[in-house]
Amino acid sequence: MGTKLGQKLFWAVGAVVTLVAFNNCGEGFVMSSISGGSTYFSTAGGETCEEAIVKVYASTFHPFLTQTCSGCHVAGGPGLGVFGATDVRTSYTAFSSVGAAKISSQAVNASHKPPYTGPVNQARITEINSYWSAAQEKYAQCLVDTGASAPSSGVKSASITVPANLATNTNFQTMTWDLATASPSVPLTATIEIRRAVVGGVTQGYEFRNPSLRLKNASSGSYQAQVISIYVNSNLASEVTTYQNVNAVISTTTATNLSAGTANALLVMTPNATDVIALQFATLKSTSATNPTPTPTPTATASPTATPATVTFTQLVASGGVFANSCVSCHAPGKASGGLDLTNYAAAKLAAANIKSRMNNANNPMPTSGILAEAQRNIVNTWVDKGAPQ
Ligand code: HEC
Ligand code: HEC
Repeated sequence: MGTKLGQKLFWAVGAVVTLVAFNNCGEGFVMSSISGGSTYFSTAGGETCEEAIVKVYASTFHPFLTQTCSGCHVAGGPGLGVFGATDVRTSYTAFSSVGAAKISSQAVNASHKPPYTGPVNQARITEINSYWSAAQEKYAQCLVDTGASAPSSGVKSASITVPANLATNTNFQTMTWDLATASPSVPLTATIEIRRAVVGGVTQGYEFRNPSLRLKNASSGSYQAQVISIYVNSNLASEVTTYQNVNAVISTTTATNLSAGTANALLVMTPNATDVIALQFATLKSTSATNPTPTPTPTATASPTATPATVTFTQLVASGGVFANSCVSCHAPGKASGGLDLTNYAAAKLAAANIKSRMNNANNPMPTSGILAEAQRNIVNTWVDKGAPQ
């Protein structure tokens, strides 16, 4: 085959193939060069199979997608799949779940999103795929050679659509997955609470809290769960790292909160009623054989966030901050419950003593839904005690 021969020559020379940079009919994008160092698959530098294929990706599809599709296919963008992300890993994960074939066909599809997509991309897509398919063959061989059957992705749930009424209120609602229908299947039920994240009256994305697992039947044994990742519309939400430390043993039909005491996880994006969410557990395996009398309590290493020495107002209202997560849905301009706008520093500072007292008063708590975890209250207590700095 012509391409194979070309590639052999190319590998032998080991040179840098530089595509001629050109402006595409005034559409403003310039083709970058493809560099010879990593368009072919090699583990010569001690890379794992996975690292080696990502390197090929980084010099083939990735530059093309970031230049051509990043107007839409990025976090918060309208496109389905964040393969236009500048971060190679994020892009590669999204790319892998859609697949090279579908991406290539949309890239050259004149009715997808012209002028970004269409025949104008054909030459480049053909070139990229010649490297990519050769690399895929070597990648498959690498996996066989190293005894790794396939990259393990643990247990991933099915994708389910976000609750319909998220759009009309900002209460947390519970999403539930039957992991017996997951692949590979485990006899567990997973849940997570989700709500629309509203900061300063503006929807910023989704907030998650209290991921949990329980056995479907009391006789199901016990399971170890580690590291939860969240997928939105089939793409890994890699910025949500809140549940990376999860490590728990599940052995009852009572839900175990896998992340007690951690702050809510915030995912910045534009929510859509058709968004689908899936959970992935890096490890979810039976421990029954080795652990006949499992501890009923989780051994979560995700310890409550240590209280920092100083806390500023800016931190409290920033994404993931306590005010942002737990207060501004009611205390923002336009809907300042009790006349208190917690996005306003002067107002918050004036109310500091009252804030501390209400947040720690279980009989009359703020937020109204109930007293927050101690770690979160301590963050605000520290802010108040240190004179409510901006
Ligand atoms: C102007 C915005 C925009 C641009 C630019 C754009 N897309 Fe899209 N893309 C979308 C939207 C919106 C969707 C979802 C609805 C649809 O399929 O049309 C989508 C969907 C897709 C899908 C289907 C994903 C899935 O999981 O089924 C693929 C594949 C895709 N785009 C590839 C590309 C590629 C490759 C490029 C760049 C060459 C590109 N798109 C450029 C907006 C865009
Ligand atoms: C679900 C809505 C809601 C949330 C969330 C909420 N509040 Fe409130 N808050 C109210 C309402 C309603 C009032 C007025 C009635 C009252 O005082 O109980 C109020 C009153 C207050 C007051 C008293 C204001 C005054 O001067 O009388 C403080 C202080 C306060 N909230 C702080 C907070 C803090 C801090 C948080 C987050 C940790 C928070 N609130 C979260 C609804 C909310």
